[in-house]
Amino acid sequence: MCGIVGIASSKEFPIKGELLARLKKLEYRGYDSVGYATSDGICEKGVGELVKFIERVKDGKARTAIAHTRWATHGGVTEANAHPHSDCKGNLFIVHNGIIENYEEMKKDLERKGHKFRTQTDSEAIAHFLEEKMGKGMEKAMQEFMKDAKGTFAVLAIRKGDEKIYAMKRDSPLALGLANGEMILGSDIYAFSDKTNKAIFFDDEEYAIIDAKGYEFFDSKGKKVKKEIKEFTWARQEESKHEHPHYMIKEIHEQPVAAERLIRSLEADQAQKVEKLVNMMKEADRVLFVAAGTSYFASLLGVYFLNKAGLKAQTLIASEFENFMYADKTTLVIAVSQSGETMDAVTALKFAKGKGARIASLVNVPHSTIQRMSEVSLEICAGQEVCVAATKTFTNQVVALLFLASKFGFHADFEGLPLQIEKTIASNEGKVKELAKKLKDRNDIYILGRGLSYPSAREFAHKLKEIAYVHAEGMMAGELKHGTLALIEDGTPVFSLIPNGDADMASNTKEVEARGADVILVSSMPGSQFQIPTTNRGIFAILSVIIGQLLAYYIARERGLPIDKPRNLAKSVTVK
Ligand code: F6R
Repeated sequence: MCGIVGIASSKEFPIKGELLARLKKLEYRGYDSVGYATSDGICEKGVGELVKFIERVKDGKARTAIAHTRWATHGGVTEANAHPHSDCKGNLFIVHNGIIENYEEMKKDLERKGHKFRTQTDSEAIAHFLEEKMGKGMEKAMQEFMKDAKGTFAVLAIRKGDEKIYAMKRDSPLALGLANGEMILGSDIYAFSDKTNKAIFFDDEEYAIIDAKGYEFFDSKGKKVKKEIKEFTWARQEESKHEHPHYMIKEIHEQPVAAERLIRSLEADQAQKVEKLVNMMKEADRVLFVAAGTSYFASLLGVYFLNKAGLKAQTLIASEFENFMYADKTTLVIAVSQSGETMDAVTALKFAKGKGARIASLVNVPHSTIQRMSEVSLEICAGQEVCVAATKTFTNQVVALLFLASKFGFHADFEGLPLQIEKTIASNEGKVKELAKKLKDRNDIYILGRGLSYPSAREFAHKLKEIAYVHAEGMMAGELKHGTLALIEDGTPVFSLIPNGDADMASNTKEVEARGADVILVSSMPGSQFQIPTTNRGIFAILSVIIGQLLAYYIARERGLPIDKPRNLAKSVTVK
């Protein structure tokens, strides 16, 4: 979480039009507060959204500057706690993404040496630490910081009167974009993907010194490191909302095109990678998925498809992987992650790698940390997803998993899928909009699923929670009678996701209906409130979730909520 940007340019650039415009592209990483500092010693910070901050602050120019958008971890959401943080004299400024675990120890030590702290953040310790060690030069100070600091960090530092940016990285992501006459640092490639498709990705325990003319990378002991320049492609037009009021609805409507793009890519451009991954899956004793949130629900569908096709597969929430999963050298671990940066997943992969497991992944963001950790990594080709809630990336994750499962014999009609997504949206959106008006004041909504519709029920509920702030639960329909049925009362809204011909689902639905629930059917059966145009179960899993995406969106609109940036959340979760 937190987004950081740094620019070192041979020409002066406008703070608002360039530095803060780049920061805006990273705002989905956190939006509690913002701030920037320049090599002229100007530092401005504020709480709340970047657009408001831009309206408020005076514009200026700089040749070297850093900026930060925060997702608060240590210290409340206040102006003082906003980054950049400075040293005692206001000569050095830092922005930080990550957590300095031993900051209290560092702070005590630095206070004893006379440093005055002004914030409750862990990050401020970095500025004072560098100030304390600066006598030996900035490079030595960074080396000592990397030796003493525990925790995770992507740090950018600048000094007054010095046109260089000093960068350090451990675990938190950091990339350097090589543009014409300009070096742009960012937490990810979105910070500079409109200006250049050439980037260098920092590895752990590296620092770099960057100015407008160039860069030098070092390991944490000061030995020079030669870095490879990577090229990436990215669809820039996806950065705009076009005619839609929110990114979320735009991204829901992009799903037919995104799915089509992925299917073509898996069949052609990525065909060799698919073959390699399929072979790795065949060679492994067990295939374990690891993922978080929406990506976890996608991976659960992957497990269903693969198990049905005769392959031993399991999945677990990334943050509990170490506690409940066994991995060894006969295991293949496949991470499923939109961002490719989720710290819980990265940590689980490191654990599995340590046990000798092979690593693969499905990611959306090219060159992300998880992709770089993987022996083979499929890209899900959804294009940039700006809304914090995953929609098109969920669909494409499931399409990719379905595609892999099809190589083991699980049947799905990929040709017809984009059109089926389009039809699902077109024939149901109006009805969902109407229903949202009725449900907007409900506090509890349940979604029932069974087998393959269970992960879909979980994802349906997940969207309602994060976007509409509704307490929603995706439940196993067969498990209701073991306790949760007690929650059902007269008029309780219960969505039932019934894949074609699932008689058990149909009778579980009758059970809640008999207890007074207001049942809403999502199925391919005629007469369902929300009709899904497929009898294929794999495809049903994808299409039924689209009803949940639309419902979350329209309830949130009825409630007047900040749809693209829901409270307390961030898109790239780079803390444990
Ligand atoms: C849900 C959502 C989150 C993410 C989760 C994992 O809409 O966005 O639940 O799915 O934080 O993120 P990735 O997929 O980037 O690993």
